[in-house]
Amino acid sequence: MASRLKDKVALVTGAASGLGEATARRFAHEGAQVYLTDINQAAVQAVADSIGDSAQAHYQDVTDEAAWETLIAEILAASGRLDIVVNNAGIALTGSAEDTSLEDWRAVQSVNLDAVFLGTRAAIRAMKHQGGSIINISSIEGIIGEPRAAAYNASKGGVRIFTKSAALHCASEGYGIRVNSVHPGFILTPMVENGLGALSPEELAAVEARLLGEIPLGAMGEPEDIANGCLFLASDESKYMTGSELVIDGGYTAH
Ligand SMILES: NC(=O)c1ccc[n+]([C@@H]2O[C@H](COP(=O)([O-])OP(=O)(O)OC[C@H]3O[C@@H](n4cnc5c(N)ncnc54)[C@H](O)[C@@H]3O)[C@@H](O)[C@H]2O)c1
Repeated sequence: MASRLKDKVALVTGAASGLGEATARRFAHEGAQVYLTDINQAAVQAVADSIGDSAQAHYQDVTDEAAWETLIAEILAASGRLDIVVNNAGIALTGSAEDTSLEDWRAVQSVNLDAVFLGTRAAIRAMKHQGGSIINISSIEGIIGEPRAAAYNASKGGVRIFTKSAALHCASEGYGIRVNSVHPGFILTPMVENGLGALSPEELAAVEARLLGEIPLGAMGEPEDIANGCLFLASDESKYMTGSELVIDGGYTAH
């Protein structure tokens, strides 16, 4: 086992699948004790079991304000500290600025933005006397717009700039807490597979051709590509980074 996160305690939300799962695995491999949470209890338990003794699964709906307090209190009671929080849980609903329902809009903001605020606030309160690293998973969709992603764009743009506000607050208070955002491009996870799976064969072929043509590195990313970025931000190797945006997108937003 490697040791870039030796003696650190981490919490990763939405860890039953995709980027959260890959990040939790990477953290554990580098020596961290990892708390994995998700609304999909069976799946997150299975991931934690497959990681082994350094991983623990908990049910958590990240939109539940009271549950954040309970969870963090449990972690502090059991492990004595919390060094890393990855606010990763997210949902994607498609719709334009013209046809998105208010219900869909609010559902997306609730999971993707409100919960990142709740997780960041809870993490700051838990870490302010010892320091730590908070990693908020935004998206390239928080930097550029898509016509069919009105609510998702808004939520991820919110995560991007909220992260800078939190970073500046922690720096000015001298907490030793760094807060950064990660901006994945198109990564093959269940979220993206479900979206692509809803398309007709013709639509799918057109989207794949367009996407691959527009990604300068010529392929979609793998969850491990994002996990590696989170590892860097979680470790002390990134000790001079706060309020920054780590874009991992095969060059998609470079043009
Ligand atoms: N896959 C991509 O290409 C991509 C690109 C940019 C950003 N992202 C972001 O990365 C994050 C992870 O996405 P993914 O692709 O791994 O998706 P995913 O659907 O594979 O995993 C998301 C996880 O979040 C959980 N979740 C959903 N709502 C929750 C809630 N209220 N409370 C707790 N857990 C909840 C789900 O059960 C699931 O396990 C999301 O924030 C997503 O917006 C993904």
